[in-house]
Amino acid sequence: MIEIAVLPDAEAVGARAADIFDRAVQSGVRTLGLATGSSTDPVYAELTRRHGGRRNLYRTMQLFQLDEYIGLPVEHPERYLEVIRRSFAGPLGVPISRVQAPDAEGADPNLAGTSFELSIANAGGIDLQLLGVGANGHIAFNEPGTPFDSRTRAVELAGQTRRDNARFFKGDLDAVPRRAMSQGIATILSARRILLVAIGQAKSAPVAALVRTPPTPDLPVSALHDHPAVTMLVDLDAASGIESDAILPTVRLSNGRSRVAGEL
Ligand code: GLP
Repeated sequence: MIEIAVLPDAEAVGARAADIFDRAVQSGVRTLGLATGSSTDPVYAELTRRHGGRRNLYRTMQLFQLDEYIGLPVEHPERYLEVIRRSFAGPLGVPISRVQAPDAEGADPNLAGTSFELSIANAGGIDLQLLGVGANGHIAFNEPGTPFDSRTRAVELAGQTRRDNARFFKGDLDAVPRRAMSQGIATILSARRILLVAIGQAKSAPVAALVRTPPTPDLPVSALHDHPAVTMLVDLDAASGIESDAILPTVRLSNGRSRVAGEL
C-alpha cells in the first residue's frame, strides 16, 4: 500500500519527513537507508535544524547508502559518501564509520554487491529507507527495465539520468560517471518502511505514472505497489499530474492536512 500525502511545498515535505524520521528513531529504529539528490535536501536540512550540534538522537544510528558512483575520486564532493557525510552524518553527529556504502572502488563489483547485502543483513535489515525518484521513474540507480528481484550490483546509468545529474557537476555531462553501484529493487523492497519524497514539476510525470501503473519493470518506482508500508510525500508541483479517475487501489491519497493513515 502506498500512502501519498500532498503537501504545499518543499519545506512542508521536509518537515513532515523529519517528523517521520524522528518518530521512527524515538520508537527504536536503528538502521536508516539514505538517499541523495536534491529532493532529500529539505529533509536533511530540517533534521539538521532540529538536531544539528546536539548529537543525541541520531548518533548511534547505522546508516546505509542507496547507491554510489563508480569512478569518482575519493575526495570528490559529489561522491555520495561525501554528500551523506556533509548533509546528514556530520550535522547529526553520526561517526562516518557508521555509514556503509557499496564499495565502488573494488575490482570485483559482484563481491562488493554481495558484501553490502551482507552488511545490511548483519545489521538486521533496514528499518526505514528514504527514497527519491528519477524523472524516468528510477529508484536508486535502478533504471527502467531493471528486474524486481535485483540486488546490489554495478549498473549503467541511463542517458536521461546522466543529463539530469549533470547539474551536480557544473553542467558538464562528461564529468558524470557512467556507472554506479546501486541497491537493487529487491534490496529496497526488503526495508521495513519506505519513505519517498518527490518535489517539483520534473517529478510530476513519474508520480502520475506511479499512481496509475501496476508493477512493471518499465517503471521501477512501481515496484513499491508490492511493499506493505510506503509513505510518499509530494509537493503540489510533483502531484500536479495525478488524475483522480486513474488511481490504483494500492494507492491512498490524502491532502496532507491530517496524518496519513498507517504512517510511521
Ligand atoms: C539520483 C539518485 C536517486 C535519486 C534520484 C532523484 O540519480 N541515484 O537516488 O532519488 O536521482 O534525484 P533528485 O532528487 O536530485 O531529483
